[in-house]
Amino acid sequence: MEKTGDLSAGLKKISWAETYMPVLSIIKQDFLERKPLKKIRISATLHVTKETAALIKTLSAGGAEVFLTPSNPLSTDNDVAAALREIGVHVMAWRGMSNEEYFSAIDWALSQKPNIIIDDGADAIVSYHEKSEAFQVFGALEETTTGVRRVKALEEKKALRFTVIAVNNAKTKWLFDNRYGTGQSALDGIMRATQILFAGKCVVVAGYGMVGRGIANRARGLGSKVIVTEVDPIRALEAVMDGYEVMPMLEAARRGDVFITATGNKNVIDINHFEVMKQGAILANAGHFDVEINVKALYAIASNVREINSCTEEITLKNGKKVYLLAKGRLVNLVCASGHPSEVMDMSFSNQALCTEFLVNTQPKEKKLIEVPEEIDKKVAWLKLKAFGVEIDKLSYEQEEYLASW
Ligand SMILES: NC(=O)c1ccc[n+]([C@@H]2O[C@H](COP(=O)([O-])OP(=O)(O)OC[C@H]3O[C@@H](n4cnc5c(N)ncnc54)[C@H](O)[C@@H]3O)[C@@H](O)[C@H]2O)c1
Repeated sequence: MEKTGDLSAGLKKISWAETYMPVLSIIKQDFLERKPLKKIRISATLHVTKETAALIKTLSAGGAEVFLTPSNPLSTDNDVAAALREIGVHVMAWRGMSNEEYFSAIDWALSQKPNIIIDDGADAIVSYHEKSEAFQVFGALEETTTGVRRVKALEEKKALRFTVIAVNNAKTKWLFDNRYGTGQSALDGIMRATQILFAGKCVVVAGYGMVGRGIANRARGLGSKVIVTEVDPIRALEAVMDGYEVMPMLEAARRGDVFITATGNKNVIDINHFEVMKQGAILANAGHFDVEINVKALYAIASNVREINSCTEEITLKNGKKVYLLAKGRLVNLVCASGHPSEVMDMSFSNQALCTEFLVNTQPKEKKLIEVPEEIDKKVAWLKLKAFGVEIDKLSYEQEEYLASW
């Protein structure tokens, strides 16, 4: 697989993303003037996309030295990596890294003794904790639901060694990125890999969190019949009242044309499900790790595996049926498409940039997972509304008094 990219294409992609990231651009300009991250070393383990490049340029504008590695072996845009190297960012990333190369890239970034770790999925944070002679950091930032869950597990075991800000939990992140971002880009990935018509298809969405509901809503908008599977009774009830069919995966497995997992959990689609699927079923994952579809078990019951294109494998099962696995069970929106649209990453990465400055300024001593400060979340929302040209009403003094009264 190609390890190098096209520098000029990379620069154009980054400039395209920046056009649609007005909030981050404002923060970048402000960072450029104030240099709040002067002399700060940052290791960033993020999908190497054009939007990530816009974040890295913002951190660099603030004075930081950044060491970038990918948060998935298959999600790097080599053109973007080449462009970032050209502008002086230290990057160890290429599309198609082996698992070993992926983790040694993280080790390389951590060996630079960063003051701040920016992570997506918590592989860098966990790698830090597995080292015996760990250096001191101001803290870390975690981008996604699965990473926040892993950090929470470290905290509960009293093993966490520094403050981690759950950037995922900012309202201006999870309500938008997880829902509208993945909702659109997961379907984009499936379309680019397969060119199927969604209208009239039966789409099974596993998990009705923000990611699952975004995908379900977009698939319905394209004319698909959508089935939701869940394990949480409240989320299942929400899916029912949003008008979807809800049933166990074993039942849905017999009916689905397209399966999309979005649970953050493992083996959600397993051997007993593959065995009852229809001829031609398409399997895609939008959750963070490649564990949601039991890919190992799928290969084990295959009589033949054939590559249809760089994103799609045709798997002939021993029962004679063929199913199609996208992106080897990894994040379909990042491997088969280009990740989230820039407009939503504008909000997610503005939170990352402002929280980086917050960590530098406060250098908190607690070994805890903490939320994004409300003023940062609100600031991102106000700036985004302004960029959309949307104004809203303000509470009058009388209304504030009324709402505060008992
Ligand atoms: N593809 C992307 O770019 C992208 C973006 C954001 C988040 N993510 C990832 O997507 C995943 C989901 O994120 P979220 O914010 O919606 O999480 P969430 O925790 O809010 O929702 C997950 C849902 O899955 C359900 N679930 C768990 N196990 C299940 C099972 N066996 N069967 C059916 N449902 C099950 C849970 O009850 C929950 O409602 C996470 O791994 C997250 O990191 C991916």
